[in-house]
Amino acid sequence: MSSGAPAPANLQPATFEFTPENLERAKKIIAKYPEGRQQSAVIPLLDLAQRQHDNWVPRAAMDYIADLLEVPRIRVYEVASFYTMFNKAPVGKYLLQVCTTTPCWLCNSDAVLKAIEDRTGARPGQTSEDGLFTVMEVECLGACVNAPMMQVNDDFFEDLDYERTCALIDALREGRPVTVGSQTGRHGSQAQAGPTSLADQAPPEIRAQMRTKE
Ligand code: FES
Repeated sequence: MSSGAPAPANLQPATFEFTPENLERAKKIIAKYPEGRQQSAVIPLLDLAQRQHDNWVPRAAMDYIADLLEVPRIRVYEVASFYTMFNKAPVGKYLLQVCTTTPCWLCNSDAVLKAIEDRTGARPGQTSEDGLFTVMEVECLGACVNAPMMQVNDDFFEDLDYERTCALIDALREGRPVTVGSQTGRHGSQAQAGPTSLADQAPPEIRAQMRTKE
């Protein structure tokens, strides 16, 4: 099921309310905004509701947030439906958001999607039969220098290829620890070939590496 369209009525819970802990968090969030501007808290409150409710926001949660903020319900619906990070229908335990914008596509994001389909049986807009993985195709996530990449729940996984994506999916399925960030061990967004410029300003150990490459 796509996470973009609202869930059908039979999947919508009749009611929603924050847990006592999250209600306290919500009150602190709302208090950050000046009197009369509480509506500005709608995005963090939707995020809080999504984290509480298995990574998706049911209609009842939107209504609850609207009542909490004392705004018309449409004010919450329009925000939740505009931002793709809010899932309006159930998603798998792992939400795989694969970037297919030009830099990632040029670096073979097709191989990432193929690996996901081979390992989970799910294509973009679908959830695997075991309910573990939901796949989404998304626009640039801002990690183009380490393309191709995907976001899994809150974390980025970069420098992917077919094999590395398969290995990542296997590890997630088996509950093994995974390494967030570059899957090739690249530090940050350093050049794949190592440092190549500003040699005179580099620390001695880096200068030594650069001499080795010459
Ligand atoms: S194009 Fe994929 S992260 Fe920017």
